[in-house]
Amino acid sequence: MQVTVIGLGRMGRAMAERLVDEGFALRVWNRTADKAAGLDATVCASAAEAVLGADLVLTSLANDDAVRATVLGAHGVLAALGAEAVHVNASTISHACAEELVRAHEHALRSYVSAPVLGRPDAARAGALAILAGGSAEARRRAQPLFDAIGQRTFALDSAPRANLAKIVCNFMLAGIIELLGEALALGEKGGLPRERTVEILTGTLFGCPAVEGYGKRIAEGRFEPAGFAMPLGLKDVELALALGDTLRVPLPTASVVRDHLLAALARGRERLDWSGLATVALEAAGLR
Ligand SMILES: NC(=O)c1ccc[n+]([C@@H]2O[C@H](COP(=O)([O-])OP(=O)(O)OC[C@H]3O[C@@H](n4cnc5c(N)ncnc54)[C@H](OP(=O)(O)O)[C@@H]3O)[C@@H](O)[C@H]2O)c1
Repeated sequence: MQVTVIGLGRMGRAMAERLVDEGFALRVWNRTADKAAGLDATVCASAAEAVLGADLVLTSLANDDAVRATVLGAHGVLAALGAEAVHVNASTISHACAEELVRAHEHALRSYVSAPVLGRPDAARAGALAILAGGSAEARRRAQPLFDAIGQRTFALDSAPRANLAKIVCNFMLAGIIELLGEALALGEKGGLPRERTVEILTGTLFGCPAVEGYGKRIAEGRFEPAGFAMPLGLKDVELALALGDTLRVPLPTASVVRDHLLAALARGRERLDWSGLATVALEAAGLR
């Protein structure tokens, strides 16, 4: 099976490495070519060249604009996608962009699956992602070997935009949890409870879940670099939730607060931090470092 990976950022690179380990022959393209250095794959000069002959094309790109530029352009993914191939898009994009991609692929008589993922680059490298796969049952069936290689569980959704909706909901929850952790750890610490102890108590009682454990530990240790998921992308995801809330008439007051706090962190020059660095805003507001 010939697989192409388009986009070798933190996630794309980790997924590509996992696919190589799993024995897939890979063709890859990234806008910034040097991110392919050291990868056991055929490095191509354009997205279209990388897609030629592929059975499955995995895109992992920053946002809507990056996906549109790479997929829909005259020399993009869709123009080169074979009739039997499936385009699997793991990027976290808006519901509206997913609808646009569905229309474009249908118009070109090509197969598309939205497959946003849960899990950070280390989970991708270990084949431990959760995959929210939305598209026709046939396209999802053909993409399953790819999902099995990078993920430990695939959730089937009956349309591509619905998978993106599910991903936006999940990341809204994560952003809220990070905000809450920042505030809760600040409250504990001001009263004399060390951050690590608060996290131990939280996770050992009612809050023992991967999100609280992983982010709680990271925040308690102040370990925000290197970023696994960078703060500007976190802001993008919260804004995706707010935009969908606008469209669907769903107020999301927590998302509004989180958006402002992410902006405050970015205004202080924290572009390079992991998005869990959002917690620094609540800690600083309480007079803590
Ligand atoms: N990191 C995570 O933990 C995580 C987890 C789940 C989902 N995601 C999602 O996965 C996607 C990738 O995330 P990431 O962490 O890998 O981001 P990243 O490290 O910032 O990489 C972004 C990728 O998008 C490419 N790109 C950006 N703008 C472009 C454009 N205009 N044209 C072509 N390529 C462009 C970048 O190319 P260059 O190298 O040339 O800049 C790079 O390959 C995002 O949608 C993110 O929300 C990330």
